[in-house]
Amino acid sequence: MYAQMVKTETNTAALTPEERAFQERIDADIKIEPKDWMPEGYRRTLIRQISQHAHSEIVGMLPEGNWLTRAPTLKRKAILLAKVQDEGGHGLYLYGAAETLGISREQMNRQLHAGKAKYSSIFNYPTLTWADVGTIGWLVDGAALMNQVPLQRCSFGPYARAMVRICKEESFHQRQGFDALIQLCSGTPEQKQMAQDALNRWWWPTLMMFGPPDGESVHSAQSMAWRIKFASNDELRQRFVDATVPQAEFLGLTIPDPDLKWNEARGHYDFGDIDWEEFHRVIKGGGPCNRERLRARIKAHEEGAWVREAALVYARKQAARAPAPKKTQTDEILG
Ligand SMILES: [Fe+2]
Ligand SMILES: [Fe+2]
Repeated sequence: MYAQMVKTETNTAALTPEERAFQERIDADIKIEPKDWMPEGYRRTLIRQISQHAHSEIVGMLPEGNWLTRAPTLKRKAILLAKVQDEGGHGLYLYGAAETLGISREQMNRQLHAGKAKYSSIFNYPTLTWADVGTIGWLVDGAALMNQVPLQRCSFGPYARAMVRICKEESFHQRQGFDALIQLCSGTPEQKQMAQDALNRWWWPTLMMFGPPDGESVHSAQSMAWRIKFASNDELRQRFVDATVPQAEFLGLTIPDPDLKWNEARGHYDFGDIDWEEFHRVIKGGGPCNRERLRARIKAHEEGAWVREAALVYARKQAARAPAPKKTQTDEILG
């Protein structure tokens, strides 16, 4: 804490007048908008953060999309369709927010397809059974919510506003997943076993979603000063464990961690060591589905080329005709 205070003071002293005014605006909780002056580091960090988030939403459609045609009932199919479609929408709001910082959609796609842009490591794991779909909603969307709720207060206006809508939908995603698991866990012993098996496979990768331990996390202090991050990776991970253990108990499922136990003194659950080697391997492209996910995205992009071309030709034709701007309904009323 003391080290952090000293660091902030030194930083403030080294700030240019523009940077100081910028930081004062953030400290006064005034949103930064795309046309406002901002330090290059702020712009670059946000482009990285928002585009990674957007890519995660889009790639995240793949593991669950895998079950759209095999959902067990019409109701579950309709719910899953709505959920996967929501994720596509989240990706689009977020690409839109990143574009306001001066990067194009095409550049972001190119970075993703070349394997240069990252997306959440969790989507490189396969969905083997129907219980995986419920478990993703419960754990993965639950973890995403834990991360994203604070971002509704983020200093960058377009990101904060996108997050308000996204969080409303994520909360539905989490509930539908938990609901699917309640049904499996109150079904036959085989159904309950299927849920347990899904929890066994998804638990540790979900804890990895919060990112490396605080000691290894490079950008945290500056991101917190800029209000684009509000809690450390380890704090968020702890909050998630504390919230999720009672939910697992409610379902009658066992979290696959022999070291998990309530620590009365800390007022939190203690939990076992995370396999960070696995995390780094998956982030670097060595997870079970990395290649498959990228291949699916590149294929979709190539197969959509004709749509982009047609839209461009149409836009050019419209511009060449240069029609007078259409009257809106308000114009008509006002005459
Ligand atoms: Fe989402
Ligand atoms: Fe979601």
